[in-house]
Amino acid sequence: MSRIAYDGQDAAAFAGTRHLAAAALDVWRAAVGRHLPPAQGLRLLDLGSGTGAWAKAFADTYDVIAVEPSGAMRARSEHPHVMIGDAAHIPLADASVDGVWLSTVVHHVPDLVRAAQEIRRVLRPGGPVLIRSAFAGRHDAITLFRYFPEAIRVLDSYPSAASVQEAFGAAGFTVAAFEQIPQCTAVSLRDFASRLRRAAHTPLQLITDAEYATGLARLHAAAARIDGPVIDALDLLVLR
Ligand SMILES: C[S@@+](CC[C@H](N)C(=O)[O-])C[C@H]1O[C@@H](n2cnc3c(N)ncnc32)[C@H](O)[C@@H]1O
Repeated sequence: MSRIAYDGQDAAAFAGTRHLAAAALDVWRAAVGRHLPPAQGLRLLDLGSGTGAWAKAFADTYDVIAVEPSGAMRARSEHPHVMIGDAAHIPLADASVDGVWLSTVVHHVPDLVRAAQEIRRVLRPGGPVLIRSAFAGRHDAITLFRYFPEAIRVLDSYPSAASVQEAFGAAGFTVAAFEQIPQCTAVSLRDFASRLRRAAHTPLQLITDAEYATGLARLHAAAARIDGPVIDALDLLVLR
């Protein structure tokens, strides 16, 4: 069960506003490539693929298999042939993929130990699990939390990097890397503010309406006076 519904409204907001521009996708593709060097026929599982922006971005480099539990997200996927499944039920054979990518998914997974065991089953030995996330306690480099500081309490209810490491450690994984990856989230704060949709962000859905309204006013006031691109840094946790 996700923290939010990922129904038609959430999925439409996500598809409409959360896909990154090509330059930001390239930064992450390069980061993933350092841990899973591209080679003919490598299979990358995009687990919790959502509306398919990452699966599409990786499809030039790897044979991407997308798995996603929400029908509304699957219906809007930019990547074809998304399989039904979740982190505890991956519809793939043992040792059948070379890497696993989870982007902003781990906080929705109800049992990370079970998920780690299931990922261990489908991943070939030695292959990387690549977890892109905002972890508990790691709000400092993410613009959203500057204008919606009330949402930090939601982020702080997410798994920490240490707790994810522990869950995967129980399934035999060890940490290969923990990196902060800067990305251009929007060309300007004005663009960021105009495209913001509450339904596309779990931390904004889980604060009160009054807190959201206050944050939105803060954001629009800042957007009127601050120039320059919005650069965020999310974490990439790599386990093998
Ligand atoms: C914030 S969205 C991220 C989507 C996509 N990975 C991306 O970064 O664009 C979180 C996704 O995780 C999916 N999800 C929720 N619970 C899950 C689970 N237990 N296992 C796998 N995916 C899950 C949701 O349906 C949703 O599509």
